[in-house]
Amino acid sequence: MPESSSVPSFTGSPAPAGPAPGRVLLDADQIAAIVARLGTEISRDYAGRDPVLVNLLKGGVVFLADLIRRITVPHHIEFMKVSSYGDGMESSGTVRIIDDLERNVAGRDVLIVEDIVDTGTTLAYIRDMLALRRPRSVEVCTLLRKNVATPVPVDIRYVGRDIPDVFVVGYGLDYNEAFRHLPHIATLEFPEAR
Ligand code: PRP
Repeated sequence: MPESSSVPSFTGSPAPAGPAPGRVLLDADQIAAIVARLGTEISRDYAGRDPVLVNLLKGGVVFLADLIRRITVPHHIEFMKVSSYGDGMESSGTVRIIDDLERNVAGRDVLIVEDIVDTGTTLAYIRDMLALRRPRSVEVCTLLRKNVATPVPVDIRYVGRDIPDVFVVGYGLDYNEAFRHLPHIATLEFPEAR
């Protein structure tokens, strides 16, 4: 069946001369240690509460998959597809909800699971939106938090690692949809800088 013209096409990886992963910020072992620590903290804090982990696609999916295998208390997972970057390198400042949650979170302990908090725009928007649905609580767990100059203030209970304000790829994080598959997290470098 032919694809609708509104469906984005796959453009493949950037050409060899395009930007590419550079310096490794976190290797797979370091990521695994961070995820294990977060899983332990979440398991301790949510004992007996059956939280709903709300994962923000697409970038957060790799982190979620590893995190839930480190959480030892009963919990559910839900997905929300949002986008703030589009295909660029700068946050657009506008959050688009592309797919919403499947289930009602009223009365539930919600834990938003993000791969990265950059400006904080996405998280602030989603957190406020979920709070309107009358959950018992809403907290946030992010693998990475960027040290940007003027972040949107948002409370983050669990932070895997603070990183400098550089564009990073790998472990779910992309540049124009490429590099999500890398087992580590690296800076994105341009040919002239290599
Ligand atoms: C990325 C990331 C966060 C958001 C953070 O998503 O996964 O959701 O940007 O940026 P902010 O703090 O400046 O709002 P993106 O829009 O790139 O979509 P993706 O997860 O599908 O790659």
